[in-house]
Amino acid sequence: MLNPTPADKFSFGLWTVGWPARDQFGKASRPDLDPFDSIRKLKELGAWGFTFHDNDVIPFDATPAERDDLICTLKKTIDETGMVCEMVTTDTFAEPVFKDGAFTSNDRRVRRYGLRKVLRNVDLAAELGATTFVMWGGREGAEYDSSKDLHAALERYAEGIDTVAGYIKSQGYDLRIGLEPKPNEPRGDIFLPTIGHALAFIQRLDNGDVVGLNPETGHEQMATLNYTHGLAQALWSEKLFHIDLNGQNGPMYDQDLVFGHGNLISAFFTVDLLENGFPSKPGAYEGARHFDYKTSRTDHVTGVWDSALANMRMYLILKERALAFRADPEVQEALAYAGVHELAEPTLGADESLESFLADPSVYEGLDLTGPSERNYGYVRLHQLAVEHLTGAR
Ligand code: GCO
Ligand code: MN
Ligand code: MN
Ligand code: MN
Repeated sequence: MLNPTPADKFSFGLWTVGWPARDQFGKASRPDLDPFDSIRKLKELGAWGFTFHDNDVIPFDATPAERDDLICTLKKTIDETGMVCEMVTTDTFAEPVFKDGAFTSNDRRVRRYGLRKVLRNVDLAAELGATTFVMWGGREGAEYDSSKDLHAALERYAEGIDTVAGYIKSQGYDLRIGLEPKPNEPRGDIFLPTIGHALAFIQRLDNGDVVGLNPETGHEQMATLNYTHGLAQALWSEKLFHIDLNGQNGPMYDQDLVFGHGNLISAFFTVDLLENGFPSKPGAYEGARHFDYKTSRTDHVTGVWDSALANMRMYLILKERALAFRADPEVQEALAYAGVHELAEPTLGADESLESFLADPSVYEGLDLTGPSERNYGYVRLHQLAVEHLTGAR
């Protein structure tokens, strides 16, 4: 049960296991891994799919012939392993040319260059059969408010995303864009910092029908937000196109820990939502369970594969616990006691007019507030049951 299989739909970014642990303060503490070996190794561990940035596989300065060769090797590896290339993304942050962003750089030459790099990669994503194209605008942002015309920045960001989305549609690709919000790092303030900002932004696009979200656990938590609530709003908006699962201990730098190795209770409720759905709208999330974590710098290559497996095991443990939580008769009773199912009932009656609602004295003038005021919702008992299931005490 805790051994991952392809049916679990686990997927990893090649940059996650491939991170040699070079950071701002120190050199790499691990060797570079061959991305094709990583795909084979992930397959062995029980993963179903993988994702990558163009430059995780094809060096930025590769010649056209080298690029073709590497794509050919990638396709061969996919065929041999049966691993699914479910998402592709573009590196628009590592090269100095992108230091002020790609789509929102003040320099128009950079914006046009960045757009070409992304469009080229959209073709590659379609060629490899990926169904999601993630866009994380890590360098789209600022440190200094004086440095940006913020209105123009949003205009250019929308223009860029709309152009990519329009291109996908015009080519007839079975591909959807997942915007990935993050509040900061590497920029002081990144544009589209949270799920909520991104959802509002998508509303303004001409081709927003193929644009949704790729929310990351740690990114919302860096902004002190509740990841599960964010996923819920994305689901409610029918915009949860992809997910980046990992671990984070509250607002600090982007930790990218193993999923569940940060805020564990939050991870439990994330899995509960993904596996069980909402009480009023049950059903599991159908997309890839995708991990965007980093092996800690203190681990060497052995630790890379230990930590990759740890992500999948954590997810499966939490899935087992979340299913047991929902199936427990005492939990069901506590949920009913708490009124969790009552919230699904519309506030106004099906054939109640606003007029009759306003004229109904039992709603307001005649309501005895004692009952609702003194109601014990029992949320603490319910939560204790959840934590007991999570910790294996039940
Ligand atoms: C980060 C981001 C990235 C993106 C990746 C895919 O904080 O560095 O999470 O890992 O997910 O670039 O677009
Ligand atoms: Mn992160
Ligand atoms: Mn990240
Ligand atoms: Mn991410």
